[in-house]
Amino acid sequence: MNLFSPITLGDYSLRNRVVMAPMTRSRADAQGVPSPLAVEYYGSRADAGLIVTEGTGPSPAGMGYPRTPGIYSPAQIAAWRKVTDAVHARGGRTFLQIMHVGRIAHSANRTIPDPPVAPSAIRAAGEMWTDTQGMQPFDLPRALELAEIPSVIGEYAQATRNALAANFDGVELHSASGYLPNQFLSTGTNKRTDAYGGSIENRIRFVTEALAAMIAAAGSPGKVGIKVSPGMAFNDIGHDDPLPTYLALAKAIAPYHIAYLHVMRAGIGAETALREAFPGTLLVGGGFKGDEANQALGEGRADAIVFGSTYVANPDLVRRLEKGAPLNDPDASTFFTPGPKGYTDYPVLA
Ligand SMILES: Cc1cc2nc3c(=O)[nH]c(=O)nc-3n(C[C@H](O)[C@H](O)[C@H](O)COP(=O)(O)O)c2cc1C
Repeated sequence: MNLFSPITLGDYSLRNRVVMAPMTRSRADAQGVPSPLAVEYYGSRADAGLIVTEGTGPSPAGMGYPRTPGIYSPAQIAAWRKVTDAVHARGGRTFLQIMHVGRIAHSANRTIPDPPVAPSAIRAAGEMWTDTQGMQPFDLPRALELAEIPSVIGEYAQATRNALAANFDGVELHSASGYLPNQFLSTGTNKRTDAYGGSIENRIRFVTEALAAMIAAAGSPGKVGIKVSPGMAFNDIGHDDPLPTYLALAKAIAPYHIAYLHVMRAGIGAETALREAFPGTLLVGGGFKGDEANQALGEGRADAIVFGSTYVANPDLVRRLEKGAPLNDPDASTFFTPGPKGYTDYPVLA
């Protein structure tokens, strides 16, 4: 078993086990419509077994960064359809990552005046980029009322329907990196005293309900995945008990039979613990290069490997890994800048 062995993932047969990580690239317009450049960017990487798109907002309330895409307006859906057409034309598969930022937002990056929402009204420490005001502190979020949580869950369902209308093969729930679902999971950000806070059972509730809503909307669990990053401190996401929380989550979602659980390694060994706890397909990412990836697959530590920054810099990553060819280095200075530089101009092998 190696990166080039086919795999069944949910409803699909993938031609290899190389997965392109979800990566925000900030090339969309101010209304969250993906750039025409995204067609080439994703299309040129379509020989991945699976492409997971950049984090994409399910609603205006779920947006927090400049120039990130959404999946709630007809123009966004139409633009995404061009991306999925390009990937499918080359025989690829792609899932849309649904990302509700929760409190990781600034008003200058949003199209609505409402404050961001979160499990609790706790501002994230740190600053974020805005195009009009430079670096700014994160906004103070408003705690979601218990009665409005079903409508937020409903946004994930609608985003799933919209993604399928854009011909995505499936959707990934972004429950990592300190965004809304992660804010519910973590003790540092969730101080609720109702059914969505306190015990592990309560803190995982938002995620299990969002996932269930996405499965119902997709009409099949095999079109739905989830990403988690236990132990990751990004976006001020303090967590007292990550391992027990994520093991409980894995146990709770095992009966759903989703396409995959995607774990980003963050140094606490969660990928090993979750491999044992989760009976379904496991995707692991975080700092992989070719040799270690093949070794992890060979040893059964993962079913497929997720490549992030390496995929930014190498559109023909699958070919390069197959040939053992050298890899281009990613240029972090163009990760989030507008335009083709660092987006669609990395060289491919002759
Ligand atoms: C430019 C960039 C943008 C990213 N944006 C997202 C995102 O939108 N959603 C997400 O789940 N992870 C995001 N990540 C994290 C990656 O999906 C991946 O987990 C991480 O980069 C580790 O993999 P790597 O070491 O192979 O890069 C991003 C990473 C990079 C480099």
